[in-house]
Amino acid sequence: VSTTIAPVAAPVPDLDTDTVVIGTVAGPDGPTPIGGSEQLDTALGGRLRQVLRDLGATGKAGDIVRFATLGATRAPAVLAVGVGVLADVTSKDGTFEPEALRRAAGAAVRALAGRPRAATTLALAGGRPGTAELRAVAEGSLLGAYTFESFRKSSKAGRPAPVEEITLVVPDAADPAVAAALRRASVLAEVVGLVRDLVNTPPGHLPPAKLAETAAGLAAGAGVAAEIYDEAALAAGGFGGILGVGQGSVNPPRLVRLDWRPAGAAAPALALVGKGITFDSGGLSLKPSTAMEWMKTDMAGAAAVLATVLAAARLELPVAVTGWLPLAENMPSGTAIRPSDVLTMYGGTRVEVLNTDAEGRLVLADALARAAEDSPGLLVDVATLTGAQIIALGQRTSGVMGRDDAVAAVRDAAGRAGESFWAMPFPPELRKSLDSAVADIANVAGGGGRDGSMVVAGMFLDTFVPAGTSWAHLDIAGPSWNGGEPYGYTPKGGTGVAVRTLLELAESLVP
Ligand code: BES
Ligand code: MN
Ligand code: ZN
Repeated sequence: VSTTIAPVAAPVPDLDTDTVVIGTVAGPDGPTPIGGSEQLDTALGGRLRQVLRDLGATGKAGDIVRFATLGATRAPAVLAVGVGVLADVTSKDGTFEPEALRRAAGAAVRALAGRPRAATTLALAGGRPGTAELRAVAEGSLLGAYTFESFRKSSKAGRPAPVEEITLVVPDAADPAVAAALRRASVLAEVVGLVRDLVNTPPGHLPPAKLAETAAGLAAGAGVAAEIYDEAALAAGGFGGILGVGQGSVNPPRLVRLDWRPAGAAAPALALVGKGITFDSGGLSLKPSTAMEWMKTDMAGAAAVLATVLAAARLELPVAVTGWLPLAENMPSGTAIRPSDVLTMYGGTRVEVLNTDAEGRLVLADALARAAEDSPGLLVDVATLTGAQIIALGQRTSGVMGRDDAVAAVRDAAGRAGESFWAMPFPPELRKSLDSAVADIANVAGGGGRDGSMVVAGMFLDTFVPAGTSWAHLDIAGPSWNGGEPYGYTPKGGTGVAVRTLLELAESLVP
């Protein structure tokens, strides 16, 4: 992402930019301009509200109208973006929901593609902005400027370029809190952009070894130690889950360990494990064609873990974070695992693989068991694990499950980050659905049983995490990918979900 953001404290009519972004809400009396638009209203002779009405603005989330200022302000145009229904997006003290501002900022910047410079007043929505508002508007603006053009012959043709320079209007541009918020937002947007790029990259261009090298290269540039286990090291280490899933592909599996170690830190305060299936065909339990179309998203968890460790390093977070990326390609072939084959996992547990399409839990089980050996204070895995997550929660809400303290910590972090995570139970009666006739455990309920299959997947993972380890599992299957139209700061394709939550989680562990 080459889009930049900088603060300015100039009066709105004097802003030197192509377009001034203001916010509107759907109030009791129709579309209403919000904080930050007062000087614009004055420059327009008090007619802003009427202009918005005349243009058919609604103020609802994502609503957009634009008008020319015809000399009334230095900027030639204004874009008014809806933040939402007043009562839904504000609290009693008049402050705005940061996530509503983040989405509005993103929608505005997306709509402004083709115009190089924009200034946004959205941080002023509720008066003097705090850290949450500054971060939200900066993040939304930068995330909304994302595009993925690497795989087009003529990248410019017909598609307007994203906004290049964003100006964030603030009361005091020299305030160090503003600089800190913008720095964090820029790092965050960059690593979320990395996740989107890695997810969007065609799977043939990003096999496990290539993804591992990409991760190690980025780690080296950020002061993060990286270790790559190739297939020989995986065999020597007894990583039967990762090897078993990878054995049907000509592209061998990998396990990447990343360590961000601020000075003085020893054991990781936070260990992250991300599912990294570079393509999920289902294996011999082959997926139908349309289900396979978007299975390049199956490494979104690994990409989110990489992104979080890189962000922790670039922000010099005083928290030791370890990331584990188990990477494999799930393919059908003469060497692939068969339904009913038994794998010996890291740690010795034997798993009967009744369905080769339930592969994510196999690579995660190895990595979780290994990650837990370092006694991290908190262990979190993030994975595009089940279609059942989408059935239960839809495409925009991720599931979180595991040990109560860890689940609570993730939910708190997600709330601060503005990401939607919903806690799911482990109903004990479902555990026996994984009983195997021959091995210690089966990877799915036999006979195609589908009851609670998001939480059954979580319960499978639970057996590989030692009791007493604070652990949470995040199922991001649906939210990792936007198959519909762009909305807010979310483009089509890879979304970069979970990175904001994981970074908040890491920050919550700062001593
Ligand atoms: N990668 C899929 C889950 C998935 C589905 C991710 C949709 C993103 C979008 C996973 O490996 C899978 O195939 N899960 C199976 C498990 C089943 C065989 C128990 C599923 O959910 O159908
Ligand atoms: Mn699968
Ligand atoms: Zn998968």
